[in-house]
Amino acid sequence: MCGIIGYVGEKEACPLLLSALKRMEYRGYDSSGVVVVGDKARCVKSVGKLDNLKEKLEDLPGGLGLGHNRWATHGVVSEENAHPHTDCKGDIFVVHNGIIENYKELKSKLQEEGHVFVSETDTEVLSHLIEKFFEGDLESAVKKALKLVKGAYGVVAATGSDPYKIVAARMFSPLVVSVNSSGGFVASDPTALISHSREMVFLEDEEVAVISKDDFYITDLDNVAVEKEKTEIDWSIEDAQKGGYDHFMLKEICQQGESLENSIRGRLDLEEGRAVLGGVEDKKEEIIRAKKVSIIACGTSYYAGMVGECMIEEMAGVPVEVHLASEFKYKKQPLEEGEIFIFISQSGETAYTLASLREVKEKGGLTLGIVNVVGSSVARETHAGIYNHAGPEIGVASTKAFTSQSIILALFALYMGRNKGMSFEEGVNFAKEIKRIPRIADEILESKEEISEIAKKYKDYSNFLYLGRKYSYPVALEGALKLKEISYIHAEGYSAGEMKHGPIALIEESFPTFAVCPQSSVYGKMLSNIEEIKARRGKMVALGTRGDDEIAEMVDDVIYMPEVLEQLSSIVSVIPLQIFSYYVALYKGLDVDKPRNLSKCVSVE
Ligand code: AGP
Ligand code: GLU
Repeated sequence: MCGIIGYVGEKEACPLLLSALKRMEYRGYDSSGVVVVGDKARCVKSVGKLDNLKEKLEDLPGGLGLGHNRWATHGVVSEENAHPHTDCKGDIFVVHNGIIENYKELKSKLQEEGHVFVSETDTEVLSHLIEKFFEGDLESAVKKALKLVKGAYGVVAATGSDPYKIVAARMFSPLVVSVNSSGGFVASDPTALISHSREMVFLEDEEVAVISKDDFYITDLDNVAVEKEKTEIDWSIEDAQKGGYDHFMLKEICQQGESLENSIRGRLDLEEGRAVLGGVEDKKEEIIRAKKVSIIACGTSYYAGMVGECMIEEMAGVPVEVHLASEFKYKKQPLEEGEIFIFISQSGETAYTLASLREVKEKGGLTLGIVNVVGSSVARETHAGIYNHAGPEIGVASTKAFTSQSIILALFALYMGRNKGMSFEEGVNFAKEIKRIPRIADEILESKEEISEIAKKYKDYSNFLYLGRKYSYPVALEGALKLKEISYIHAEGYSAGEMKHGPIALIEESFPTFAVCPQSSVYGKMLSNIEEIKARRGKMVALGTRGDDEIAEMVDDVIYMPEVLEQLSSIVSVIPLQIFSYYVALYKGLDVDKPRNLSKCVSVE
C-alpha cells in the first residue's frame, strides 16, 4: 500500500525523494522517512503526513537515497516503525511495501544469531537478512535474503558501502524503474516518476533490478538476465496534479465529462451500432460464445461490476455473476463451461483481485481486464483487456474510475449484445445514448453548488441510509461507501425492496435517507418506499429526473439530473452522490483526499 522511491544520480537525492513521496502520498500517510547516502548515510523519519517529515529535515547531502510513505500493517504508527529500516551497523537501508508473512520465524532466527531489532515491523527482517548475507555485493545479498522470504514485497535496498547503486525487487507489490537524464529511479507508482520521463519499465514478480545513475539491468532471483520492454505512459504531469482544484477528489469528480469521453473515444461505431474494443478483439470468439460472465473486483470497482451485471444481462442476454475478489479467492469455484471472467481494478494492483485472477488463470479460464493504470499487474496478467484511459486517479475515494468502468461495461454489453441477439436498430440507439453520457455528466456537474448547499444541511447527522433499485442499487451502495469513507458518517446502502426486511427499523427523524430515484422501470416502486419512510418521519434527500415535481413534494430535498436511458443511468446518477459526500466531508473539516485508515491501493491481503 505504501509509496516507495529510490534514486541514484548526480543530483541531490533529497528534494527528488520528497517530490516523489508527495505524489505518492495517497498510497500511505501513517508515517514517512528518507535516507540519503553522501559522505555518510543520514536517515530521518516522522509520524503522520509528509509535511511533518519536511519540517524535521535539515540538509541531507548526497546523490543516493530511499524514501517511503507508510501504510502500517505490522506495528503501530511510530517513528521506530517508520521506514527506511536498517541493519545492526546502520549500513544497509530498506524500504518495503507489502507483508513478510514468515517474518516471525525469520526474526527469531536472526535474533538467535545476535541481530538486534528496534521496530515491530515485518520489514526489519529484510534489512537484517541482507546484512547477514552482505559481503560487499548488495545485489547478491538481496537475492539470498529474498529467497528465504514468503509474502509480498516491493523492496528497495541501498548500502552506505556502495553509494552508486540501488537494488529493487518485486513480489506482488508494484515497482517501476526509469533511468533517464536525471538519474536512476525506482518507485511504486509511475506518478512519482512522470516528471522525469514517460518511459518506464514495470518489474514482474521475482525480478530484481540493479539501478545506477545511467543504467539498469534486471535478473531473476537466480541471476538469469531478463529482457524488458519499456512502457510509454500516456498521461502527463499536469494530469497528476490538482490543476487549481482544492482537492484531487473534486478535480476528479469535475473531470468526469472528459474522462468518460476518453474512455469511449474511438470505441463507438455509431453507424453500425457496435462497440470497437481492440483490446479484446483477439478473444472475440470466446467472448461471443460465452455462456456466463463472472466479474471480480473490490470496493468501488465491485459496484461498477454490479452495474455491468445489469447491463450485460439486459443488453446481451448473458447471465452474469459478480464476486468480491476477497471472497472469491477463498471459495471453491469450479469453472463452468463457457464462463469468462472480467477483473475490474482502477489501480490494477489490488491484491485480492490479482490473486483471484491468478487463481482463474491457473484453472484455465479466459481473463479480461478493465484497468485504469497502464502496465499494472492486472493489465499485464489478463489475457486481454480494455484500458479506462481515465487518467490518474489520486483521491483515495474513487470517483472517475467508477464512471469510466461503468461506461466501459456499457461498451462491453454492446459489444457482446451486437454479436448475439441485439438488433442493428437497438445497437444504433444504445451506441447513441452512450455517446451522450459525457455531456450529461457535464450537465449534472453544473448543479455542484446546489448539492453543496444540501450537503451543508445534512453534515451533522451520524447515520445515512442509501436506497436504490435495479440500476440505482449499485449507485446507492457506492453513494454510501463514498459518504462513509470520507466523512466517517455511518452509511448503509440497500436495495429499496429490502428495506421492509429489516433496515426500516432504523428510520426515525434523526436517521436520513438518500433515495436514488431517476425515472426508470422501478420508479413507482421507489415512490412507495419513499412514502414508507416519510410515514416514519424520516428525513429524505432524493435524486430524481428533471421535471419530476411529484418527488419534490414528497421529500425534504431533491437533486435533479437530466433524463437518461435507464440502462446507462448509473454512470451519471452516481455523480451527485459523489459531490454530496465531498461537500459533507469538506464542511466537517476533514481531509478529503486522505481519509483516515485508507490507502489508494490495497496491495496487501
Ligand atoms: C473506493 O473509494 C476505494 N478507493 C476502494 O473501494 C477501491 O475501489 C478498491 O480498493 C478497489 O481498488 P481498485 O479499483 O484499484 O482495484
Ligand atoms: N509491512 C510493512 C509495515 O508495516 C510495510 C507496509 C506497507 O506496505 O506500507 O511497515
